[in-house]
Amino acid sequence: MPEITPMMQQYYKIKEKYHDAILLFRVGDFYETFGEDAKIAARELNIALTTTGRGKGAAKRIPMAGVPFHAVTPYIRQLITKGYKVAVCEQIWDKTHKDVEKREVVRLITPGTVIEDSFLEERISNYLMCVNLVDSKTGIAIVDVSTGEFLLTELDDDISHSSLLNEIDRVKPAEIILPDSLELGLELNTCTISRYDDYYFDYKNAYTTLINHYGVISLDGFGCAELKAGITAAGAVISYLRDTQKRVLSHIKPPKTFFVSDYMVLDSVTVRNLEIFNNIRDGTQRGTLVGVLDKTLTGMGSRLLKKNLQFPLLDTVEIKRREEVVKEFYEDILLRESLKEIFREVYDIERIISRISFGNANGKDLVLLKRSLLQINDLRGLLKKCRAEKIRTILKALRTKDFSEVVDLIERGIIEEPPGTIKEGGVIREGFNAELDELRKIKHEGRRWLAEFEEHEKARTGIKSLKVGYNKVFGYYIEVRKSWAGKVPEAYIRKQTLTEAERYVTEELKDYEAKALSAEERIKELEYELFEQIRKAVGKRAKDIQEAANLVAELDMLLSFAEVAAENGYCCPEVDAGNEIVIREGRHPVVEKEVKEGFVPNDVRLDKNNRLMLITGPNMSGKSTFMRQTALIVLMSQLGSFVPAREAKIGIVDRIFTRVGAYDDLSMGQSSFMVEMSETANILNNATERSLIILDEIGRGTSTLDGVSIAWSVGEYVNTRLKAKTMFATHFYELTELADALESTNCYNVSIKEAGDEIFFVRKVVEGRGSKSYGIQVAKLAGLPEEVIESAKSVLRRLENEVEKEGLKRKAEVETKKEYVVQLHPVVEELKSINLEEISPIEALNKLYKMKKMLMRIQD
Ligand SMILES: Nc1ncnc2c1ncn2[C@@H]1O[C@H](COP(=O)(O)OP(=O)(O)O)[C@@H](O)[C@H]1O
Ligand SMILES: [Mg+2]
Repeated sequence: MPEITPMMQQYYKIKEKYHDAILLFRVGDFYETFGEDAKIAARELNIALTTTGRGKGAAKRIPMAGVPFHAVTPYIRQLITKGYKVAVCEQIWDKTHKDVEKREVVRLITPGTVIEDSFLEERISNYLMCVNLVDSKTGIAIVDVSTGEFLLTELDDDISHSSLLNEIDRVKPAEIILPDSLELGLELNTCTISRYDDYYFDYKNAYTTLINHYGVISLDGFGCAELKAGITAAGAVISYLRDTQKRVLSHIKPPKTFFVSDYMVLDSVTVRNLEIFNNIRDGTQRGTLVGVLDKTLTGMGSRLLKKNLQFPLLDTVEIKRREEVVKEFYEDILLRESLKEIFREVYDIERIISRISFGNANGKDLVLLKRSLLQINDLRGLLKKCRAEKIRTILKALRTKDFSEVVDLIERGIIEEPPGTIKEGGVIREGFNAELDELRKIKHEGRRWLAEFEEHEKARTGIKSLKVGYNKVFGYYIEVRKSWAGKVPEAYIRKQTLTEAERYVTEELKDYEAKALSAEERIKELEYELFEQIRKAVGKRAKDIQEAANLVAELDMLLSFAEVAAENGYCCPEVDAGNEIVIREGRHPVVEKEVKEGFVPNDVRLDKNNRLMLITGPNMSGKSTFMRQTALIVLMSQLGSFVPAREAKIGIVDRIFTRVGAYDDLSMGQSSFMVEMSETANILNNATERSLIILDEIGRGTSTLDGVSIAWSVGEYVNTRLKAKTMFATHFYELTELADALESTNCYNVSIKEAGDEIFFVRKVVEGRGSKSYGIQVAKLAGLPEEVIESAKSVLRRLENEVEKEGLKRKAEVETKKEYVVQLHPVVEELKSINLEEISPIEALNKLYKMKKMLMRIQD
């Protein structure tokens, strides 16, 4: 054991408790890291790695790397973004500690618990998710510490935890907290995973944590009392926040319970295929749905819009309410302009108020809050004339929130351009506090006194080079150049010698110094106290301000929908609970902005007579675009947005599924047939009659015959078993025969104009089977050399002849495929036949028994 200093002993003791975090250990003006932490810090932050320790020889020395305390923020940010946790350990001033300074971890910063603006993306929510499993239920609590948003839900668990994975995909948390003992058997590598003591996940403990935190006697009022697993997760997350932040988190709102079944489900594959948030090419927001739809002017509005894109509605009433607002904004350009003016001046009050409650807001935060609250006043006046029901509700809510006192307090208390710190003074406005004004006068007069003193001493001594100055170490001094040394009066006391000059003090100057410094100190102290008072007073209105922020966010989002609709000529869809999708002259919201020669609109009708659309057409003709635009129009409709079409009637869809064949899927390699099939399986296992399925060239990743067979069976299954509305693009011409074999199935093709050898894309979807595949013509369009094209044509002719000969044989094969009916597992069939509303517990048990027996028989 190498000899270690008392400070290092202290370090190891603290580090033991924060073993999974990088410990920033305050030593004087530096934060130091030691050991493994130092190696990580040196690597990740690109700072120098040195060593410390008394022992001789490399082995006995401890790696060390440090950063100056005043510049620590960007370093912490880098570590957090890379998924590390950072424990900040400060020196605490305490006389009783003799041989080593007292030190304490004041905060554990983790990716999911940051609150500082400098660590966060303004327009993206930062979620901390806590998960626990209780009796085959997955309890999930989701918190955004930066806004105080708190959500709670429960899912049915299954072996693969697929519903949990879906939620993780949807929420994209920065950090997930799991109980120490929980083994999910999942590779969760998209975010930081934190383990937390099982104790906090215990139902009783969690329940107590929650009721204590909110000062209530039971959780009945929060609408989550039934959700046992959810409560354990929610209680644990509150404990975790208290543990890491070391302070009271009064801004965390009471948990809002939501149920996944209340929203349209979009699995991650679909979110990616439809390019809702990120494009497939480079992952940015360019060319995405959110890129088109998000014209919000506030960070809150933008975050809300993204959340809604992840949770499209199923409730037609709420959709209609939103549409009504969008319509009103859409029709009134002046109203839109005035609203925009207001929202441009509304800052991120949702996050500001969180920082205020949290205790780390600065003067700027308060000033921006004040300006925003003033805008909310104007907003009220502006909304008065609106008719939409939702706006009237919002207005009513805003009317109950009078912020004039808060505004007035900040106005009187904080200067208009405050500095970034609150401990150095210069924040509080004049006239706010008499004592402060008095101290400032003393300080100000002091400056005049100094000038006079200097003049007076100059005159008295006749020393022309005499100067009065100040430095941090020696305080006030009189400086005299050495050449004037002979004239220095006796009463001057020497303080410091420089090469060119001597520095002195006098009794008079010393007296002044004492007074001036104490005024300065006192000013800083008092300003800080006053700031804290104002902050706390504003913090008392946190709940109201949070609610106002939510209302603003909602209006901002709906205004954005209206703006986009007006700009791009969208229509208001008619959304109902029926089972039809009818779109006239629909367009792709993103592609229409990219094609220069003009986008060609297309019609769609999916209903009971046309459940399965088989779409053929050459490469690049527009099949994928056509199907995706249909999905996007449905999705937009269920947000309450207008849609790119002349007319649309949308029956609510419970899920949108997409499967893009390996060939079209740019983000995957060729060996992804397995992925393709497992994603297809997901669709077949989860789609319902109310789902919309987009199948884009599935079966492409394997040999033609396999491909056709699989595609054929899948088409058959979605149509006859699931009865889901399905659009199926395929280059397997054979599949068009499905239309003859199945009900409610029709063929479409994207029409092509032929002129001799050449083809032109018309991009119009028409009913009927297309003919050839035009592959060679497309190749020609793409610029393949003439020679290659000619050769390809002759090969094609030869092959066509052979195929003709083979034709009958092939046809027979397909025929047999047609007879192949997909068979469900008997137990599944049995399960499906159960009517949960009618079955009694005894019958249920009997059924279970029976199914179990069936399973055993099958296994034997
Ligand atoms: N309706 C349309 N109007 C204008 N251009 C279109 C239209 N549909 C597609 N395109 C253009 O054609 C390209 C290829 O379309 P895509 O849907 O990928 O074809 P496919 O799936 O048939 O190979 C698109 O990137 C777009 O530029
Ligand atoms: Mg395609």
